[in-house]
Amino acid sequence: MPKTVEQIRAEYEVAGGRAFFAEGRFAVVNCTFKDSKNGNRFATVELRDGTGSFTARAFDAALIVGIDEAGAIDARLKVEEFNGAMSCVINAWDVAELTSDDVLRLGGLDPEVHAQRVATLEAWLGQCDGTVYGDVLRACFAEPGTWEAFCMAPAAVRLHHAEPGGLVRHLVEVGSAGLALLDSTGTDYDRPYFLAGVFLHDLGKLDTYTLPPTISYTAQGLMGEHQIWSTFRLAKACGVAGAPRSVEARLLHIIEQAHGAYKHAEWQDALGPEAKALAAADFFSSRLGETEKERKAQLALDRLLADEAAAGAARGFDSLADGSASPSGEPTAQATGLF
Ligand SMILES: [Fe+2]
Ligand SMILES: [Fe+2]
Repeated sequence: MPKTVEQIRAEYEVAGGRAFFAEGRFAVVNCTFKDSKNGNRFATVELRDGTGSFTARAFDAALIVGIDEAGAIDARLKVEEFNGAMSCVINAWDVAELTSDDVLRLGGLDPEVHAQRVATLEAWLGQCDGTVYGDVLRACFAEPGTWEAFCMAPAAVRLHHAEPGGLVRHLVEVGSAGLALLDSTGTDYDRPYFLAGVFLHDLGKLDTYTLPPTISYTAQGLMGEHQIWSTFRLAKACGVAGAPRSVEARLLHIIEQAHGAYKHAEWQDALGPEAKALAAADFFSSRLGETEKERKAQLALDRLLADEAAAGAARGFDSLADGSASPSGEPTAQATGLF
């Protein structure tokens, strides 16, 4: 009986460290190969379905061949605890016979929601038309296939928005959050400049990651970080669009500053509210992906809440039952369940 990622995680939570087997259909959203200390090759794969994702490993030499190109698999897994976390080992798999759209859906792409996000980006692109920033952006997407690849690209191999169309999802979040920040100031700002920053800051991800279903680093991605490739694409587009050096400098600055919240570009300060808004919004969006540590913390919190609900729900109504109320005679907030 096939199980979903959610069902497998739930079974693991109640298994108390006991190993069990599970079968399911998953998209292989990324795959890396490594050599163990004894020289044996093994594969680490991120498996995903509509309910979530987890990391699994395949050790058998026959099992790692072709898994990076399978797209989606029907897999049999051994699930157990290892170093305090869920460990999944692939015991057997077959290529799942699906259409490429189905593989993308399994990989986390909802076609309707995705189409709405693409429409948002197209509208923002249109709002830049007629400005020098619009010229640069149109030059970025002029090469046939670039826009299509952009719409399908992931935003990461692992950390955040690491799914088909993940880059589009990330940019809609960054653009929406950044515009809200800029609007909150009540002062004028350069909207096309900010939007150009949204489109450009991660454009180099088209160079650094393979396109779905299976997302991995390209040779370019292993040679240099995506923001370097973003500026490289910017330089080419500025050449095509005939953009002045001042525009090139502003755009390079906003790309660099979008990554300043981490470890780059700390030696200079972000110039202007547009660069500050982009950096803040990008930092927020890029942290939305859930790490294993966050998942653990959430589980621990859920357990605590469940314990409190079991013990504390009655206590919350004690004050009503024993007649204790606020001096005004109104039930307290705690008694009414507000907190
Ligand atoms: Fe980035
Ligand atoms: Fe970003």
